[in-house]
Amino acid sequence: MKARNFFSLVITLLLLIIKSFAQTPSLTLHLDKPGAAVSPMLYGLMTEEINHSYDGGLYAELIRNRIFKDNKYTPEGWSLVQDDAGSKAAIKLIAASEENIPRDERGQAINGALSTCLRLTVEKAGGRVGIANEGYWGIPVKPSTTYKASFYIKGTDRKPPLLWPWEPKPTTPPLPDIENNTPGPITVSIESNDGKTVYASGTINLEKNIYWKKYELDLTTAANVQPTKDARFVISTNRIGQYYFNLVSLFPPAYNNRPNGNRVDLMQMLVDMKPKFLRFPGGNFLEGPLLTDAFPWKTTLGSLENRAGHRGSWGYRPTDGMGLLEFLEWAEDMGAEPLLAVHAGYSLDGDHVDAGPLLKPYVDDALNEIEYVIGDTKTYWGAKRAEDGHPEPFKLKYVEIGNEDWFDRSNSYDGRFRQFREAIEAKYPQLKCISTIAATQYPSMKVTGKEPDVVDEHYYRDSWEMWENASQYDKYDRNGPKIFVGEWATREGAPTTNLNAALGDAAWMTGMERNADLIIMSCYAPLFVNINTATPTAPKAWQWDSDLIGYNALSSYGSPSYYVQKIFSDYLGNKVVPATFENIPVQNRPLTKKDSADGIKPKAVPTIFYSATLSDSTGIIYLKVVNTTGKKQTVKINLEGAPKVLPEATVVVIKSDKPDDTNTISNPKKIIPVTTTAKGLGKNFKQSFEPYSVTVMQIQTK
Ligand code: AHR
Repeated sequence: MKARNFFSLVITLLLLIIKSFAQTPSLTLHLDKPGAAVSPMLYGLMTEEINHSYDGGLYAELIRNRIFKDNKYTPEGWSLVQDDAGSKAAIKLIAASEENIPRDERGQAINGALSTCLRLTVEKAGGRVGIANEGYWGIPVKPSTTYKASFYIKGTDRKPPLLWPWEPKPTTPPLPDIENNTPGPITVSIESNDGKTVYASGTINLEKNIYWKKYELDLTTAANVQPTKDARFVISTNRIGQYYFNLVSLFPPAYNNRPNGNRVDLMQMLVDMKPKFLRFPGGNFLEGPLLTDAFPWKTTLGSLENRAGHRGSWGYRPTDGMGLLEFLEWAEDMGAEPLLAVHAGYSLDGDHVDAGPLLKPYVDDALNEIEYVIGDTKTYWGAKRAEDGHPEPFKLKYVEIGNEDWFDRSNSYDGRFRQFREAIEAKYPQLKCISTIAATQYPSMKVTGKEPDVVDEHYYRDSWEMWENASQYDKYDRNGPKIFVGEWATREGAPTTNLNAALGDAAWMTGMERNADLIIMSCYAPLFVNINTATPTAPKAWQWDSDLIGYNALSSYGSPSYYVQKIFSDYLGNKVVPATFENIPVQNRPLTKKDSADGIKPKAVPTIFYSATLSDSTGIIYLKVVNTTGKKQTVKINLEGAPKVLPEATVVVIKSDKPDDTNTISNPKKIIPVTTTAKGLGKNFKQSFEPYSVTVMQIQTK
């Protein structure tokens, strides 16, 4: 090689090295600059009755349709058990108010809430005859477990029906044998669906001439029972007779042993997330399809005997077993603060109540509800709370007025918000009212008058949209209201989200975290999904794809997004570390057909996302980095102004080989956080980030 050629080769190589050095992504954390305080309530939970989140989910009740009101025409979830073909028996739904029910068959109500019941008529008992409940896609059975069963039962109605003089005489023929035989032992069991295996059973003695009596008993499984969800609950007899049932209930042990409590595995997953608040009761569940279907907080209080349930917003009838007090105690059990959303006179079908005198009853109702939560025991509703078992007022700082009122195209929210806010602030000046319309998200719908303290923004996006908008809060005005990101999610994967969604989530969360002075609270939605698909007797359990935590009757699992939420909440300092990133690698967002039609050009989107927070007390920097690509990416990290840097750091990584990899009920731990150690750290060091990964480094600087 000639000297000239050699010289130019060396120059080219040098230039390439310099260029590649200059292009190495480089992240500088400015510890020498003051960082904003991280909101202490940054990460919380949002919840509502959707996807069988409570009934058939967190709420531990195992009997489906326990007061027989799920369907007016048929006893959904219930079936006749008839072990011997020679028996003659039938079950029938007896609804107090149904016009198609003969007059003499009505009048079986226990009270206003328990007005529908199930009748079992046994005319010939060749063997065991009874009623079976299939549970919420199965009754779960676990070894050495005591289940609390209870139900109301009465024998044949001996009282002649009250008839008007002009009404015809009863059509039901007298059943003397049945009347005489109804009293006696009644067996209660948890058993396999074919009835061949009995996991636990007990007996009650039905007394003679009993008019609705509640019986309670414990059913305990043996230590060697194999866990299963394919079981049913049966109440049976081998005598002829006529039997009426209502409020049939079966509870496994609940979290913190609370009566009427929550499922243990799901509560543990939530507690592990260390949520700082719980936004409830919705979501759409707060509002209801019609104004009369809003969350009926008053009739969710007190004993189950008084809870009729209501229509709900997601196509099935909630029992309201998860009532206002249960929500509050659930928050308490997680060490979280309640964030109460009050119904604001708007319903999902678009009806609204104009501000003014017509809205006053709604405002008063919200004031009463708040009094139940925080009033002292001398107040009417505070005393009711004490009577319900919780004399101590709950902690409450934020009240949200409605939910997603940007759907109200009549623009009535402006007046409604103001009326609620003025009344709430007058009575409870310590409370902050959250507006569900954020001018930042819907500039044309701003609420006028006094600026809201906090506004709620909602974002349901795909991963590209999350990556494209992950830095949107960097540009927000600091003089406006604080932001509550009250619902958000990357919607990819069903029923629970996949790794790509988790990469979208993590990128979005780095943006919220970098701006944790402005974003004071945030919560993912929806939280829960019962993953059952339709069976011949029960519909598909979920209405919304892309959820955080999945379960069936027996077990549960977290999506990759769940684990991202968990590590972001686990590893969080109290100060934002200002940071600059040079040479962030980018990729072009693929164009959709619509983009091409609209003449939109490919847009460069970052492939690395980051945030850093510092714990003042420990000197630990929590550096979060998201690599959305299939290639390992190396970043130069500079810690400007760090007093010292320990050479080793704990590193937690969530990753997998393919973006659509996911966790499932049968493979629940495919993608979970894995902890390793990084070595060779200093004030300047290089760190490689795995393909499709979310990484948290804990860098010790003290
Ligand atoms: O999270 C599911 C639904 O999305 C919520 O009920 C509603 O507020 C939003 O539109």
